[in-house]
Amino acid sequence: MPGIFDGKVVLVTGAAAGIGRAIAEAAAREGASLALGDVAKEGEAVAAGLRKAGAKAVFRPTDVRKKSDIDALVAAATKELGASPHIAFANAGIEGKMGAPWETKEDDFTRVLDINLAGAWRTMTAVLPAMIERGEGAIVATASVAGLVGAGGLAAYVASKHGIVGLVKSVAIDVAKSGIRVNALCPGMIETAMVDRLATDVPGFREALLALKPMGRLGVPSEAAEAAIWLASPAASFITGHALAVDGGYAAQ
Ligand SMILES: NC(=O)c1ccc[n+]([C@@H]2O[C@H](COP(=O)([O-])OP(=O)(O)OC[C@H]3O[C@@H](n4cnc5c(N)ncnc54)[C@H](O)[C@@H]3O)[C@@H](O)[C@H]2O)c1
Repeated sequence: MPGIFDGKVVLVTGAAAGIGRAIAEAAAREGASLALGDVAKEGEAVAAGLRKAGAKAVFRPTDVRKKSDIDALVAAATKELGASPHIAFANAGIEGKMGAPWETKEDDFTRVLDINLAGAWRTMTAVLPAMIERGEGAIVATASVAGLVGAGGLAAYVASKHGIVGLVKSVAIDVAKSGIRVNALCPGMIETAMVDRLATDVPGFREALLALKPMGRLGVPSEAAEAAIWLASPAASFITGHALAVDGGYAAQ
C-alpha cells in the first residue's frame, strides 16, 4: 500500500525514546526514510529497528544545543538517504526540574530554554534553506499543552513551550509563500520516561494529574505521533502556524 511519505526524507530530533521514537516509527510505516538525532545513544537501536522493518534510517548523536550537530544530521540525510529533509519534527525536549520559579537556578532555567526553544529554532534553521530552495516542506515542532496554558512548578518548561508556539506562528508566516508549513504539536500528558521522571520526583504527581484529565487517563506516544504525522502530511495542506492540542480534552476545561 502506498504511504503518505513515500520518497520523503524525514528528520526527527529526540528520536531515541517516547514521542520522537513513535513519530519515527509512524513515518517509516508511511514510507519515509529517516534521519534520527538524539543525545541518547539508544537512537541507534531505533534506527536499526526501522532498517530491520525495511525502512532506510540513519542515526547521528545530536545535541540540539549545537547547530553543528543538527547540520551534520542534515548532511547525513542528504548523503545517505539521497535528499535533504522534506519534513522535520523538532521534538527533542526536557522537562527541567520542578520547583518554585524563585528557587530555580539560572543555569537550570536557561538549559530548558536552550534545549526546548532554541533547539527547535536551530532545527528549523538547519532544514529551512533547502526546503525554501525546493519550494516545499513541512515542520512540526513538539510544544505541549504547556504551550497553551500554564502549569505550576514548571515555569521554564511552560515558558519554553509557549515560546515554541510563538516561534511556530512567526516562522510559518515567514515561509508560507515558499510552500512550507510550520505547526506545533501540543500533547497533553503522554506516558513516556518524561512523565515517569516527574512522577518519581514528586510524590502523588500521577494521581494529581489523572484527577485533572477529562478522559481519566494519560495518552500514549502513538496518539501524539499520529497527530504529528497528520500535521506534516498533505491532508493538512491548508494548516500552518497552528498549535494542535492532543490532550484528551485537558485544555478544553
Ligand atoms: N510526555 C509528555 O507528557 C509530553 C507532553 C507534552 C510535550 N512533550 C514533549 O514531547 C517531546 C518528547 O518528550 P517525551 O515525552 O518523548 O520524553 P522522553 O524523555 O521520553 O524523550 C525525549 C528525548 O529527547 C532527547 N533529548 C533530550 N535532550 C536532548 C538534546 N539536547 N538534544 C537531542 N535530544 C535530546 C532525550 O534523550 C530523549 O530521547 C519533548 O519536547 C517534550 O517536552 C511531552
